[in-house]
Amino acid sequence: MKTVTVQASKTYDIQIERGLLSKCGGLIAQVHPRCVAAVITDDNVDKLYGARVCASLENAGFSPKKMVIPHGEQSKTLNTLGSILNFLADNSLTKADLVVALGGGVVGDIAGFAAAVYLREIPFVQLPTTLMAAVDSSVGGKTAVDLPAGKNLAGAFCQPILTVCDTAALDTLPDQYFADGCAEGLKYGIIASPALFEAFREGIHRRDMDDIVAQCVQIKAELVRQDERDQGARQLLNFGHTVGHAVERCSGYTMPHGHGVAVGMTVMCRAAYALGFSHHNCTPALLEALDACHLPSSCSYSASQLAQAALRDKKRRGDQITLILPETIGQCRRETLPTDQLERLIAAGLGEEH
Ligand code: NAD
Ligand code: GLY
Repeated sequence: MKTVTVQASKTYDIQIERGLLSKCGGLIAQVHPRCVAAVITDDNVDKLYGARVCASLENAGFSPKKMVIPHGEQSKTLNTLGSILNFLADNSLTKADLVVALGGGVVGDIAGFAAAVYLREIPFVQLPTTLMAAVDSSVGGKTAVDLPAGKNLAGAFCQPILTVCDTAALDTLPDQYFADGCAEGLKYGIIASPALFEAFREGIHRRDMDDIVAQCVQIKAELVRQDERDQGARQLLNFGHTVGHAVERCSGYTMPHGHGVAVGMTVMCRAAYALGFSHHNCTPALLEALDACHLPSSCSYSASQLAQAALRDKKRRGDQITLILPETIGQCRRETLPTDQLERLIAAGLGEEH
């Protein structure tokens, strides 16, 4: 088993291996006394893994209580959050009990937020079942729900006490969601690791992901250690996300997050080189890697549409926006620009003529 330790306001382990969902009860028992464990999952994941996780918790002496929410981003709402909080209260959970988030980023974000606010915080465990959740959302303690005005607009920092990543769960993940997680993996490569980038460019195998997941979360753990509250170094994780979120918004959220990030990374690489922020042209290597991961590199929206959508992003501070620009594969830097320069930058990234 691979273990990566996150040192933040809480110190906790991320355990990574095929087959861990069957053993999760015993692993959780090593970090938390037996108690009621509220397992929050979605309908797809429940059919595949709900019984396995509840049996393992029961065998280890926990009392599992399961709540199943409908799958998909449309569940990440204040309404569903209210239902989860009522479920915790109806089952009389106390601060001695646990929330267990079993699923992808949607379940992890909303169950984590419920744990953050129920009784002003009870412990929670992440059991990620998508590649996106394994490499990104189950690590670092960002929890949230969406508001009608935008994604992740209400949330809290709340670190789990343990993340147990069963990489065999990726075997059942539909291709589109596997590709989504690859976009975040490529992002780690571009911000911190040429070797990881090469691994994605050469083509990864979903049945052999332990080492890849460990490399990704090691990079994230280091940035979270330096900057848990996202005031500095952690912002590197936003590479490709400002434009990525804009693409998602313009598509009415029909384009999934990782696909938007793939387009956003391409726009930033091309713009950084075209406008002289970077002396190295990362775009050709990125296009090859996106192709290998079955991810898009372009979209049908104009620079003007994308800039308007990007300015509604929560990363804007007044009339300034901090963007992440690649210097070379494996190294990025933060650059704060006036918001009125964003459209020009996106236009350069799209290759639009002026
Ligand atoms: P998701 O949770 O919607 O899961 C994608 C789909 O896969 C769902 O239909 C789900 O039911 C299904 N599924 C999950 N695991 C499966 C499995 N093993 N086999 C078969 N089907 C499975 O989407 P996601 O891509 O995991 O996460 C996206 C969410 O994560 C977004 O809301 C995004 O904002 C959030 N996110 C949060 C962070 C963070 O730091 N907190 C980081 C990145 C993304
Ligand atoms: N997903 C970006 C972060 O956790 O900061």
